[in-house]
Amino acid sequence: MCGIVGVVSAKGKDIVGDLLTGLKRLEYRGYDSAGIAVITNSGAIDTRKAKGKISCLEEKLKAEPAKSNIGIAHTRWATHGEPNEINAHPQFSELVAVVHNGIIENYAALKAELADRYVFKSQTDTEVITAVITVNLKEGMSPKAAVSSALKRLKGAFAIEVLFADHPDFLICARKGAPLAIGHGKGEMYVGSDSLALCPFTNKITYLEDGDWAIITKDKAEIFTADDKPVTRKITTSTTDKNSVNKGFFDHYMQKEIFEQPKVITDTFANFKKAVKGLPSDLKSVSRISIIACGTSYHAGLIAKYWLEDLARVPTDVDFASEFRYRSPVIADDTLAILISQSGETADTLAALRYFKEQKVKTLAIVNVTESTIAREADFMINTLAGPEIAVASTKAFTSQLILLAALTLKMARERDAISAQKAEEIEQKIADLPKVMQDFLSTSGYIKEIAKDKVLGAQSALFIGRGTSYPIALEGALKLKEISYIHAEGYAAGEMKHGPIALVDNGLPIIVIAPFDKYFEKTLSNMQETMARGGEVIFISSAKGVETKVVKDFAKAVITMPEIDDFLSPLLYALPLQLLAYNTSLLRGFDMDQPRNLAKSVTVE
Ligand code: M6R
Repeated sequence: MCGIVGVVSAKGKDIVGDLLTGLKRLEYRGYDSAGIAVITNSGAIDTRKAKGKISCLEEKLKAEPAKSNIGIAHTRWATHGEPNEINAHPQFSELVAVVHNGIIENYAALKAELADRYVFKSQTDTEVITAVITVNLKEGMSPKAAVSSALKRLKGAFAIEVLFADHPDFLICARKGAPLAIGHGKGEMYVGSDSLALCPFTNKITYLEDGDWAIITKDKAEIFTADDKPVTRKITTSTTDKNSVNKGFFDHYMQKEIFEQPKVITDTFANFKKAVKGLPSDLKSVSRISIIACGTSYHAGLIAKYWLEDLARVPTDVDFASEFRYRSPVIADDTLAILISQSGETADTLAALRYFKEQKVKTLAIVNVTESTIAREADFMINTLAGPEIAVASTKAFTSQLILLAALTLKMARERDAISAQKAEEIEQKIADLPKVMQDFLSTSGYIKEIAKDKVLGAQSALFIGRGTSYPIALEGALKLKEISYIHAEGYAAGEMKHGPIALVDNGLPIIVIAPFDKYFEKTLSNMQETMARGGEVIFISSAKGVETKVVKDFAKAVITMPEIDDFLSPLLYALPLQLLAYNTSLLRGFDMDQPRNLAKSVTVE
């Protein structure tokens, strides 16, 4: 989603390069236009905007350079109004320039109210912020009063920065429902959507609390609460390493992140042992678990349901955050709510967390970004150690969420005497062995590119099927393929095929069958045969025992042979070929899989 950056420096310095550096750090969030605003020596707002990539904005700046000691910048992921230069941020008047991440829900009412006092140029919701502040200034308010009064009129979620033509020595920023961080430099201050945007400049970060706003000069941040009371927020030392965000020897972030999985699994599992203090002490008395998440994190939650119910015997519900927050869930006493989020900023998941907290339900966050809002607001937090995940398609965050959920399942199973200590230790040993198994598979996986080329590249559509924990893996495989290769794909529980989706099968439809050699194997094989009988072309994924089955040998159009793995851990391993299938299909189709069209990494609006 949109990303924002701001820099205030000493007179005479030029911060335009810093604004672009910060913006590039936010590219991973997904965007379709970009822009900057600075204040000229003569006290005018000066903007450059471009549709498309930051490189297009750089071209504009090359043709018509801008220079200033103060400025704001933005990457826009369009919500209101198509991606074009007029709708790109900053939205500005002769007095102010505004960048915004979020959605102003009452923009239509404000726009109507201000129509005779402000000439609106864009289709954006953001322009009403510019309008309200401009009108306030024209009515004689100071910048501080103009912003404070405007904030009280805005409904919805926002993180904003405001630049004033007549005041080249400060900017004002605010957050409500969307994240915002302040970076403390030496004689220079920064504002950004996250610590990744700020890490090229400083690791001294202040995270604003919800409702806070701040006046930023080159030396300090003066912070106020939503009701305008001065407040001190602590300065933390961010662990985000500016060198951690590079592709290394790989061509793409997604490829690098797929190959990092053995390491992040190892690190995350080791961290679980240390992070146990991040868990409620009375896991034994938990009567029900409610898992809430979106997208890939939701798929991790679905797998955890199988595990928690099977091994720890805890009833477990899994909901999409966007559905959960608007229905009237019945929440049992002693429920533990688990919120899963890579970014820790997903708007719907955050809303669900706040709902649980209002209901006095214990909340546990499983997040990758430890400084995120969800991490900070949950009662308990355990973090995955995936490191920055830059590609929009989640890979290493998914498997590291799974390893944490597996470790949590084992801990709960033990505490509730649902499995013996010996059985738990056996599984723990298999978890310890898993990174090597993953590594061995990855290092011989080059042939998956050929399968992508021969069997998926030309397809209009694809089906992924599996049973047990391979069903959420089928959902995840389909999500990966559709989000980066733009091929329509569906994941189904293999047993559900006959209840409708089999009608879609005709000659040449690729059916990706995820079939570890487990208790479901024979049943999945029957479902596979039903699709083949109708022309489906099967890509069969199983261990040697599975792929050597006669019917597979005789009829599957392609096979991916997986190492032997304990049934419990199979989803962690079987995720890999599906990630590679999607990656290679996208590569062969010539798409930018790191920044797929229309998608944002951090979904901070609902
Ligand atoms: O940061 P989160 O884990 O809360 O994000 C949830 C989804 O937006 C995310 O998993 C999304 O589905 C990815 N693009 C999947 O690859």
